[in-house]
Amino acid sequence: MSYPYQIQSYEQYRSVYAESIHHPEAFWAGVAGHFSWHKKWEQVLEWDFKTAHIAWFKGAQLNVAENCLDRHLAAKGDQPALIWEPNDPEDASRTLTYTELHHKVMQFAHVLKNNGVSKGDRVCIYMGMIPELVIAMLACARIGAVHSVIFGGFSAQSIADRIQDAEANTVITCDGAYRGNKVIPLKSTIDDALPFCPSVKKVIVCTHTRTPVSMLKGRDIWWEDEVALVAEQGNPYIAPESMDAEDTLFILYTSGSTGKPKGVVHTTAGYLVWANYTFVNVFQYRQGDVHFCTADIGWITGHTSVVYGPLSAGATTLMYEGIPTWPDAGRLWEIVEKHKATTLFTAPTAIRSLMGFNTEFLKDKDLSSLKTLGTAGEPINSEAWHWFHKNAGKSSIPLVDTWWQTETGGPMIGSLSGVTPTKVSCATLPMPGIQPVLVDEQGHILEGNDVSGNLCIKFPWPGMLRTTYGDHERFRQTYFSTYENMYFTGDGCMRDEEGFYKITGRVDDVLNVSGHRLGTAEVENAINMHLGVVESAIVGYPHDVKGEGIYAYIVYKGHEDEDNLTRQDIALTVSRIIGPIAKPDKIQFVRDLPKTRSGKIMRRILRKIAEGELNQLGDTSTLLDPTVVEEIKSGRL
Ligand code: PRX
Repeated sequence: MSYPYQIQSYEQYRSVYAESIHHPEAFWAGVAGHFSWHKKWEQVLEWDFKTAHIAWFKGAQLNVAENCLDRHLAAKGDQPALIWEPNDPEDASRTLTYTELHHKVMQFAHVLKNNGVSKGDRVCIYMGMIPELVIAMLACARIGAVHSVIFGGFSAQSIADRIQDAEANTVITCDGAYRGNKVIPLKSTIDDALPFCPSVKKVIVCTHTRTPVSMLKGRDIWWEDEVALVAEQGNPYIAPESMDAEDTLFILYTSGSTGKPKGVVHTTAGYLVWANYTFVNVFQYRQGDVHFCTADIGWITGHTSVVYGPLSAGATTLMYEGIPTWPDAGRLWEIVEKHKATTLFTAPTAIRSLMGFNTEFLKDKDLSSLKTLGTAGEPINSEAWHWFHKNAGKSSIPLVDTWWQTETGGPMIGSLSGVTPTKVSCATLPMPGIQPVLVDEQGHILEGNDVSGNLCIKFPWPGMLRTTYGDHERFRQTYFSTYENMYFTGDGCMRDEEGFYKITGRVDDVLNVSGHRLGTAEVENAINMHLGVVESAIVGYPHDVKGEGIYAYIVYKGHEDEDNLTRQDIALTVSRIIGPIAKPDKIQFVRDLPKTRSGKIMRRILRKIAEGELNQLGDTSTLLDPTVVEEIKSGRL
């Protein structure tokens, strides 16, 4: 191809971008030439947004694990593929070279096969941030099983919902996981979920925390015993399964506007190409770089930026088990210094939580290895941007803000480190191949600069989701029915006077709490399950650390004199149904909710009250009972 795989300058970005838009098929065929294929494609792209049909590299065959491991062995066999930093700084870190990781993935691929997992089967992975999680994912990819990783903070009920939806036959878990000074009993949570999951035949348990676990004969087996069996057989080679380009690589559940989590489906070739291309370009990867992404692998950022992006590029990925503030707020800086990380990619929430501490924690740390800082997952406010840039980046290295979604597979809008401009609190420019458009409520495309609207993408890209698991119509409805012939992101966005894109937040019923995506309906359903709750409505409100907090308005009939206890009871119910991440920050008990005459809850009013904008409630005359609003205003927390 006439342009380099890694973009080197702003001018080059402009010409590569133009090329990718004018000749998308030739462009992506050129990019795809950088991978190992068992069989080349017959067609680069087939698409129709009306029927929500998207296929990239049709007819091709390949294996993602092979592209992440085997492909690098000759040149980089002895290079660290994965560095693992434990929760507790007193414990030893672990390093796996490409050769070692390849070996462990093959061993575990045998374990899966020995336990009845075949190509196409769904495997649920519920583990802490330890190397075995990466090994499990890549072993699935090697044999063509579909992994569905569930974030370790989800409850038994949430796990059961996800396992049932995917009809997984196998679960891989740990006895427990460390998070700061807590031990999370993962296996025990799985045990609570499994009575509702008849599809699960085997549970593979990896020991990590030595938390006591119950092991059921015939169903539960130890990771270590199974690996030992494979070793006894001499660790035979296992060939990477030839997967069709459009075979599913993984399912990742995320929240939408309805209560039911949706299984976002990513496929083999397109996801690999996208994860790799965006990784190499956004972070400007160079041989020897150590990429530190703090995201949990339970989210898309972890899938793409801890696992598939760096490993497909032959980079060294640094994964950390714990949290940024334990044992103290110097932990991330200590890790950067210890492993000489070249990139630090994190969430605005983590930065805001560190801003609450003294910068003493940074003072004596040598952060000179860092070349790039990055953020993703939520809007980054300018205070956090400046703090991160100044303290971690000594005001001298690029800070790239990247906008993406579970559905997009990888960054869509974001600076390329040191190559394209950065701007405070602004994702800036689209990746090659991405055609963002802003539309008004009626779907008219807004041209020119200095405009705000709803963000849509008008052309497919390789890493986009292909369907929602088991429900293609939901996929079509959610993403392609709001605006004709466009993928609707659910985000509001502004194109500023320079033509840069700045994401302003969700415009649908989705909240972003500490960078975790939660549907209002999902949280309300959980609240409504609590005894005595008649009805509820939740809205987001600005929160200093979490970005967005959850404000719940609840109509409750019960022990009115025990408000605080009841609040805790309700929070516990939400924690049991979804997980602690969904607990409301504020609960206000109300006589009724503001509703229109047709019974629709006026969330706009509730949102304004939660935000404290009591004089900007707009027209309340259409409400069934306007006095309700006055009562809610006076009881505001
Ligand atoms: O609202 C946007 C916000 O996070 C949502 C997607 O969340 P999730 O599916 O968990 O994927 C996160 C992948 C990084 C988006 O719809 N969001 C993500 N990145 C940014 C952002 N909001 C503002 N700026 C960002 N850089």
